[in-house]
Formats: sequence, structure tokens, C-alpha cells
Amino acid sequence: MTNERFKNQTAIITGGADGLGQHIATRLANEGARVWIADRDQEKGPAAAEQIGGKFEPLDVADEASVAGAFKRIHTAAGRLDVMVNCAGIVGPNGMKIEEVPVSGFDQVQAVNLRGSFLTCREAVRRMLPRDYGRVLLIASIAGKEGNAGMSCYSTSKAGVIGLVKSVGKEYAETGITVNGLAPAVIRTAMVDNMEPTQVKYMTDKIPMKRCGTLAEVAAMACWILSPEASFNTGFTFDLSGGRAVY
Ligand SMILES: NC(=O)c1ccc[n+]([C@@H]2O[C@H](COP(=O)([O-])OP(=O)(O)OC[C@H]3O[C@@H](n4cnc5c(N)ncnc54)[C@H](O)[C@@H]3O)[C@@H](O)[C@H]2O)c1
Repeated sequence: MTNERFKNQTAIITGGADGLGQHIATRLANEGARVWIADRDQEKGPAAAEQIGGKFEPLDVADEASVAGAFKRIHTAAGRLDVMVNCAGIVGPNGMKIEEVPVSGFDQVQAVNLRGSFLTCREAVRRMLPRDYGRVLLIASIAGKEGNAGMSCYSTSKAGVIGLVKSVGKEYAETGITVNGLAPAVIRTAMVDNMEPTQVKYMTDKIPMKRCGTLAEVAAMACWILSPEASFNTGFTFDLSGGRAVY
């Protein structure tokens, strides 16, 4: 049976060139959405878009002008925006305690993960308001809920994303726009493969199910949150942690 939950809808997936974003983009396209992958990677991005019959738009989520320009071009071409997922993110310094963390690493992680969430969310809401409908999903992390030792920059940025979701969800609660977050534990992607092995072991050992989450599990949950069915949920960061966080 073909599921067409996103028929006629337009979706922007930042960070959609790889990892979680690529899988969410694929499922959205399979379920009828017109998908724009927006990513800083100008090699993987167009290839990922082509694979799903979507389009590619280069952007750096940390840059205000870049985000505004990309969203404007997509909105002009598509005529509407129904779904926006911010998956672009970086880990930054990991496997080290705060005494060793350089300020530049801290600033860079906040710029991409937190400033990027603010900029993409703001641009999406502005473009969803005229039609009084929209689904915004910001990818946070279990690190933002629980705090991972050795990842102070990342954990801080993701806690900020959860706070952003709580606040903005309430701001638009009386409209047709929902703003939610997703807090996965470890999912095997390039991001995780590039981390310190001791850091990955620390995070994986904490998962009660004793396994990593899968990209299919991420896409399934994200696409429910992004569907019209998820109409009584806003300001919430959904858990996807194999039992690590039970709140
Ligand atoms: N993989 C995990 O275990 C895990 C767990 C929890 C949360 N997350 C979060 O999920 C999101 C996706 O992670 P992933 O594991 O798929 O990583 P990934 O490295 O596989 O993919 C990240 C994508 O974001 C893009 N990107 C990075 N910085 C960008 C920028 N400034 N502007 C535009 N694009 C940019 C990259 O080019 C890449 O395509 C991130 O926010 C990450 O923090 C991942």
C-alpha cells in the first residue's frame, strides 16, 4: 500500500545530504512530498536529492543570509512550505573534559547546532504562517536531555535546541504550525564514525536496549511527527533512545 501522507506538500530538509536527514528526506519523498535537500555539502547534496526525485539548495545553517536566501528561493519555486526539518549538525570537540576544550570549538558547535536551529526555525515559521499550517522538527539529542560527559559543547547546544522548541512551540500553539524536537541516542552515521571510539562506547553502553537506533526508526518517528496526524503535539522533544531517557 502506498502511503501518501505528504502528497502535494513541500519539505525542506537541512543536512539532508547524509545520515538522519537523508533518510527522513527519502521517506518524505516516498510518501508524496516534494523535497528540497538543503546542505553545505555540494557533492553529496545534489546526489542525495537526485536519488529521491528531489531538488538541492546549498546553504550554511549558521549563516543568516545563507538561510534566508535558500528558504526564499525554495519558497518562490515551490509556492508553499509545509515541512521543515533541521538535521544539519556537528559534534565538535568530544572525548575531552571542559579543561581541554578550545573556545573556538565551543563557538563553532553553538553556531551550527543552536544558531542554525534558530535561523531555520524562524525562516520556516515566517513562510508557514500565511497558510496557517506547518510542521517544524529540530533534531536535538539525548545529549541535550541527559548531558554526555566528554561532549560539553554538543550537549549544551542540544539542550539549547530543546529550550527553543519548548518556547517556539508555545508561541504558535494557537496556529496550525507545530514545532517539535527529536532526541535520538546513538544512530550509526558518518558523524558517529568520526567520533572518539571511547566516546561512542560511553554513549552506547548507556542504552538499555543494548543497541544503536536505526535510520529507519528515526525516519518512521520523524515522519509521524511531520504528518498532519500529529496535530496535538507541539513544544515537545520526542525521545528515541532505546530506553535511556524515559521522560
Ligand atoms: N547520529 C547520531 O547518533 C545522532 C544522535 C542524536 C542526534 N543527532 C543529530 O542528528 C543530526 C544529523 O546527524 P547525522 O548523524 O545524520 O550527521 P551526518 O554528519 O551524517 O550528517 C549531517 C549533515 O549536516 C550537514 N551539515 C553540517 N553542518 C552544516 C551547516 N553548517 N550547514 C548546512 N549543512 C550542514 C552535513 O553536510 C551533513 O550532510 C545532527 O543534528 C546530529 O547532532 C545524531
